[in-house]
Amino acid sequence: MRSHLLILLISLLILKSESINCNEKSHSSDLRVFHINSQCSPFKTSVSWADTLLQDKARFLYLSSLAGVTKSSVPIASGRGIVQSPTYIVRANIGTPAQAMLVALDTSNDAAWIPCSGCVGCSSSVLFDPSKSSSSRTLQCEAPQCKQAPNPSCTVSKSCGFNMTYGGSAIEAYLTQDTLTLATDVIPNYTFGCINKASGTSLPAQGLMGLGRGPLSLISQSQNLYQSTFSYCLPNSKSSNFSGSLRLGPKNQPIRIKTTPLLKNPRRSSLYYVNLVGIRVGNKIVDIPTSALAFDPATGAGTIFDSGTVYTRLVEPAYVAVRNEFRRRVKNANATSLGGFDTCYSGSVVFPSVTFMFAGMNVTLPPDNLLIHSSAGNLSCLAMAAAPTNVNSVLNVIASMQQQNHRVLIDVPNSRLGISRETCT
Ligand SMILES: *[C@@H]1O[C@H](CO)[C@@H](O)[C@H](O)[C@H]1NC(C)=O
Ligand SMILES: *[C@@H]1O[C@H](CO)[C@@H](O)[C@H](O)[C@H]1NC(C)=O
Ligand SMILES: *[C@@H]1O[C@H](CO)[C@@H](O)[C@H](O)[C@H]1NC(C)=O
Ligand SMILES: *[C@@H]1O[C@H](CO)[C@@H](O)[C@H](O)[C@H]1NC(C)=O
Ligand SMILES: *[C@@H]1O[C@H](CO)[C@@H](O)[C@H](O)[C@H]1NC(C)=O
Ligand SMILES: *[C@@H]1O[C@H](CO)[C@@H](O)[C@H](O)[C@H]1NC(C)=O
Repeated sequence: MRSHLLILLISLLILKSESINCNEKSHSSDLRVFHINSQCSPFKTSVSWADTLLQDKARFLYLSSLAGVTKSSVPIASGRGIVQSPTYIVRANIGTPAQAMLVALDTSNDAAWIPCSGCVGCSSSVLFDPSKSSSSRTLQCEAPQCKQAPNPSCTVSKSCGFNMTYGGSAIEAYLTQDTLTLATDVIPNYTFGCINKASGTSLPAQGLMGLGRGPLSLISQSQNLYQSTFSYCLPNSKSSNFSGSLRLGPKNQPIRIKTTPLLKNPRRSSLYYVNLVGIRVGNKIVDIPTSALAFDPATGAGTIFDSGTVYTRLVEPAYVAVRNEFRRRVKNANATSLGGFDTCYSGSVVFPSVTFMFAGMNVTLPPDNLLIHSSAGNLSCLAMAAAPTNVNSVLNVIASMQQQNHRVLIDVPNSRLGISRETCT
């Protein structure tokens, strides 16, 4: 009996020593980033992370719609349970006095939106209440920001309403302004959407903060403070007691970092495009048709970095070429499929390396960024897939799994995106 107690106590102590302090203060301009399944996240589910991974097709379709690849809204049949994207959250304090919200980070969206009190269809019990904030102000239709909102309209009360779809979900919101506090930084008069109606299951529960390039994004609204410069390190999703960081502003950014030019697509102003010029598997540069990688502002084609898609999608001819070379190099084993992955192996096999060749910057993926392990059948899968064939897709997305444990620097004034390995803590 006593020994059992002792074991229990020791286990508890071990558990405790492995746990992190979720409420530890973020440093100025450096916010802690949690994975949605982190022990610090209230959105943790019993669904295994590997299972949710198989469901981020909706995100890809959504991004394709942003890139103009398909017509305005895309039909998304998810129905397979919760679609958890985007998958990283930070704490944002909104209003006076501050109301804390755990908002999802999204580098491919601009406007922030937060579920507000009175919302019909919002899943969260934590709602922002503008009436309890002395600094809250509803924007009128004439406000210049109203034109920047997606599908804006003038409501009966002359406030600026807007509609948008996100993944398979839809929101109706009105534009409001309030003080945003991130760590110890204060951003006065931050414009965001207050959601009053929501439908669908793919919305981040406590809202979203857009870090895109467009006018309504945090990056554009905090230009004086952060000069359109930020970096993030996304923690690995495999362990539950990790946190990464979102570092805002040019201060303390890595100096020694490989970079590639950031490309701007005037028609898709939110997205961070780069020039992916080739992909190497082992020491072989894979033969990919130029058109599969080419940047084209007219069609939205090209390659983006995205924090909300979980695993990398390549347009079909590129993916097929990479996968075939990858398979060719795995000796004495035949690939099997699992969910959305078609290059899986059981047991211990030796995998080739994969290198993304960007203009002026090669990034070789460590095994943790290349392979996803499933306990089902003891499989390791190449964590990439072809863009779904039901869209005429031309967008390559470098996703969060491939970015984990790297610092990704977005430096808009110098038009560059940097990347270096870093263990997020
Ligand atoms: C949003 O769209 C619905 C349906 O099209 C429409 O009835 C509503 O007025 C729109 N609301 C706003 C704020 O644009
Ligand atoms: C914020 O908006 C209020 C109301 O329009 C204005 O009085 C104030 O000067 C603004 N503050 C800043 C820092 O822009
Ligand atoms: C938590 O982190 C520690 C080291 O920081 C690691 O040893 C431990 O395995 C982690 N626990 C879990 C459940 O991931
Ligand atoms: C792979 O498949 C081929 C064709 O079905 C078969 O001949 C070969 O034995 C298989 N190799 C392994 C290692 O299972
Ligand atoms: C999974 O495969 C590895 C490598 O062959 C092996 O060491 C391990 O025991 C296997 N695990 C299970 C649960 O089968
Ligand atoms: C990237 O790798 C290719 C092929 O190995 C090489 O030719 C090229 O010089 C490398 N680029 C950089 C910037 O290191």
